[in-house]
Amino acid sequence: MKQAIYAIFIVGLAGQAQAQDVANGERTFRRCAACHMIGDDASNRVGPVLTGVVGRPAASFEGYDYSPSMTAAAASGLTWTEDLIFEYLADPTAFLRAYLDDPRARAKMTFRLRDEQERRDVAAYLATFSPAEQASNDAGICVENGSEQTFLFAAEARGGERDVAELTPGGSLCVASQGADSGVVSVFESMDVVEGCSRLVTAGQQEVLVRYADFDRCEWGSHS
Ligand code: HEC
Repeated sequence: MKQAIYAIFIVGLAGQAQAQDVANGERTFRRCAACHMIGDDASNRVGPVLTGVVGRPAASFEGYDYSPSMTAAAASGLTWTEDLIFEYLADPTAFLRAYLDDPRARAKMTFRLRDEQERRDVAAYLATFSPAEQASNDAGICVENGSEQTFLFAAEARGGERDVAELTPGGSLCVASQGADSGVVSVFESMDVVEGCSRLVTAGQQEVLVRYADFDRCEWGSHS
């Protein structure tokens, strides 16, 4: 279910190509599934759980007995990225030998995926289970200009980033909430007018400016 939601989201944001990669990657993952589980209730099997593996230090999934070589690679700082997984999958032993600069290193994973496109797609699929990816999927702090004039808007997640944009009527602006449950949106007549209006917004909801009036007397879509 979750995977389907991510896939739809990716179509919306990045277009068909990337969604295609993820869908192909999901198909390729069936071959990994002989040894690995992924998802919310995954457990270690022949191989470790791969939920959240992109962005995770190597050899760090709790309760899994990693090989000495993988543990050594982790100790020298290996953290999985899509690119590194892409390389690892081609030949895990060769990857670890190169990474550790040790010709006797041995991978516990005996499976190799030769095809470049399949490796890229499966890495993209794995990334959809990682927190960073979920953060970019997370609910934003959003504001829409529902008035008839162009104004300067700002949106800011609590303790997070702030974005400013001039919005023509009907335009909207969002910043990622990055885990915060709320943020502030504000509107100003122009760049050099400091007096404007601002509103507290719950992450995932979009506030709409209905009519502008200075000194915080604007009319907003929500009434509170
Ligand atoms: C035959 C079983 C097997 C198959 C098939 C397999 N793996 Fe693995 N995989 C393992 C084992 C065992 C390990 C642990 C490696 C170690 O400790 O050296 C591992 C480790 C990994 C790791 C490192 C995880 C970590 O926590 O550091 C990644 C990433 C990975 N596999 C991805 C894949 C992907 C993607 C596929 C499919 C394209 C795949 N594997 C197919 C057995 C398998």
